[in-house]
Amino acid sequence: MRLLVRNIGRIVGIEREGRLRLCGAEMDRMETLDDAWLLADGGRIAAFGRSGGEEGIAADRVVDAGGGMLFPSFCDSHTHLVYAGSREQEFLDKINGLSYEEIARRGGGILNSADRLHETSEEELFRQAMERVREIAAMGTGAVEIKSGYGLSTEDELKMLRVVRRIRQETPLEVRATFLGAHAVARAYRGRQGEYVDLVCREMLPAVAREGLADFVDVFCDEGFFTVAETERIIAEGARYGLRAKIHANELAVSGGVQAGVRCGALSVDHLERIGAEEIGALRGAETMPTLLPGAAFFLGMDYPPAREMIRAGLGVALASDYNPGSSPSGDMRMVASLASIRMRMTPAEALCAATLNGAYAMGVSRDFGSVSVGKVASFFLTRPMPSVEFFTYAYRTPLIERVFLRGEEFG
Ligand code: NIG
Ligand code: FE
Repeated sequence: MRLLVRNIGRIVGIEREGRLRLCGAEMDRMETLDDAWLLADGGRIAAFGRSGGEEGIAADRVVDAGGGMLFPSFCDSHTHLVYAGSREQEFLDKINGLSYEEIARRGGGILNSADRLHETSEEELFRQAMERVREIAAMGTGAVEIKSGYGLSTEDELKMLRVVRRIRQETPLEVRATFLGAHAVARAYRGRQGEYVDLVCREMLPAVAREGLADFVDVFCDEGFFTVAETERIIAEGARYGLRAKIHANELAVSGGVQAGVRCGALSVDHLERIGAEEIGALRGAETMPTLLPGAAFFLGMDYPPAREMIRAGLGVALASDYNPGSSPSGDMRMVASLASIRMRMTPAEALCAATLNGAYAMGVSRDFGSVSVGKVASFFLTRPMPSVEFFTYAYRTPLIERVFLRGEEFG
């Protein structure tokens, strides 16, 4: 199938020298091409160029972009979008003054979602998750990482990861799966955290690996959840099965999680609301991508990570939605990019880079996703004509995304 898109006002996010991520000041330089066309063949980008050059190219389908812009799909490298039900009762608790930690201590939070997930069939879980997948695809996401972590028993963690596998098989999105057994200590193990960590290492991880259900391993390394020592043990155990780490770190406290992630060669450390010069120093020159989740800081009313300091220090940063029922019930990556500008003073160009190429890096797919480049997967969206690229995240609730293409085919 050959798809030709013509009359594109501007192609945004063109690849720069085959780079798998962009760091520091590089993030602010956006490569664009005005008045353009793009050809996709067999689901990959085959060519693009200035209008006129497409004359004579044969295609099975020709789409007129009407002068709108073409953006590479968002790459959302951190979500928990497989979950059962929703948690708006906790939304009310929060409005009434309870903190995230207080809600968790009362057995709400993650454990609440685990109870619901336990009672929900795999089929129903898939159905609910697919509604969210269709929602994020329509909002421009073309690659997504999805975590387990609402199972907290071997059987239920496997159930979640099988749902993720089915999403991967049945949708045109690029999907990566992360095993997050150490998201919270299961209710049955209350007061026996060490035994729960044993269960994660000795039973869950081998079972997940046996079925080949995960690409990555994650730990919620934070105050009130898992310690640095436990995190390092789980990362080391995951590495034995070939699973690279992506760590929840420094959301609630200066946890040491960032340094632990860097030491263990984690692909990303995520959240980072509580970091300072030491953590930024540890990330300098590392392969680990710091990933910021401003949607969670927004929803929980917390401080935002110091994105400007990080970029000034030369780090690349990624943005992700953290789509989950407790701290970020939205997978809208465009809103995430807007929040990054509004609350963390990232420029629109930096935010888009962080939500596409650097996000792709943070989930290990930036060879194929995250920018417009010949040979990369043809997952992109078209907008209405806009006065500038900046308008896209400035006019943050105007419905600007008109058409979505995943692997060279129109979605929806
Ligand atoms: O990324 N921080 C840990 N986990 C999720 C929240 C999960 C929940 O509350 O259900 C997060 O914010
Ligand atoms: Fe998360």
